[in-house]
Amino acid sequence: MNSFEELEAVRQSALKALETASQSADLTVWEKTYMGRKGAVTQQLRSIGQLPAEERPIFGQRLNEIKAELQAAFEARAEEIKRRELARELEAGAVDVTLPGRPVPAGHHHLTTQTLRRIYKIFGQLGFEVYEAPDVELESYNFDLLNIPAYHPARDMWDTFWVAPPEEQDADEGRLLLRTHTSPGQIRVMRERYPEPIRVILPGKCYRYEQITARSEHQFYQVEGLAVGREITITDLIGTVHQFAELFYGRGRKIRVRSSYFPFTEPSIEVDTNCILCDGQGCGVCKYTGWLEIAGAGMVHPVVLENGGYDPAEWSGFAFGFGVERPSMMRYSVEDIRLYYGNDLRFLRQF
Ligand code: FA5
Repeated sequence: MNSFEELEAVRQSALKALETASQSADLTVWEKTYMGRKGAVTQQLRSIGQLPAEERPIFGQRLNEIKAELQAAFEARAEEIKRRELARELEAGAVDVTLPGRPVPAGHHHLTTQTLRRIYKIFGQLGFEVYEAPDVELESYNFDLLNIPAYHPARDMWDTFWVAPPEEQDADEGRLLLRTHTSPGQIRVMRERYPEPIRVILPGKCYRYEQITARSEHQFYQVEGLAVGREITITDLIGTVHQFAELFYGRGRKIRVRSSYFPFTEPSIEVDTNCILCDGQGCGVCKYTGWLEIAGAGMVHPVVLENGGYDPAEWSGFAFGFGVERPSMMRYSVEDIRLYYGNDLRFLRQF
């Protein structure tokens, strides 16, 4: 094989190798094999010296042509491989926007929240606004200003969680506790609103240091109601509670009023409705009485009106307070209040 044939053979082999190259790594190898310092084309350049003098220019010219041709072929091939690799990469990492999304598990409101919202809606229709009072309360608001002085036997009804032991707290500054009922909010709203008439509900959590049973938790919700105006009478109270019972438990509810005692209302009453499950016939839920207790209530005691800044000679008002969990227990026949805050999803998902 003469040197021209040898040069042609190198050209052919280089072109063929380019054709079979399929990825960037093949191109690197190709460059080294043919164009690199020790590559086949470079070797050809070195061999010029051994050629007869008259052949050298022609060989040199041909070699330059081949080098240019191979360089161009290399660039074209490199471009193609780059394009193909990019396409492959895009395809592998592609996002198919038509695929269905991964489902996001949707939760729902806790049974207590649902019940509270129903209550807000009903009282909203009756013209009551929601007023929020603090959970951590002054002893005076929780007891004294509600006509429950320290020596009063009614304090025994609400065993108290103190924020710090009462003997370690400064009585003059006001000792702090977790409110045992929502009634202290009555004083707060009266002091804030005087001399406006008032129609509010005060929902919130209450805390009592007491034995936990199927019906009693140490944390539970109450919704307090308070109306203060010029000529409010007990019939307004009974009418309001009756309306509520119908809207909450369903039409046709009867209510029954029994006399009762709370230090902050005079007179005080207890309101019952005919049992929603047996309609007054008698069943396990109403303990065979046909009646369910729904609220403690009464006319705001003159001392409490005065403590709120309202002159009892001019103003009168009614207040009521009911639980939230117990009415929803009746509605859904839940037998144990501890299920509400036990965080067992098998229970919570049912509502
Ligand atoms: C009171 O707390 C009065 N402040 C209610 C009131 C307000 C009367 C305004 C007059 C005027 P009582 O202790 O009965 O009353 O509680 C009211 C309701 O809270 C009960 O009927 C019950 O539904 C709920 N409740 C009381 N203790 C618990 C408890 N440990 N666990 C769950 N619910 C409770």
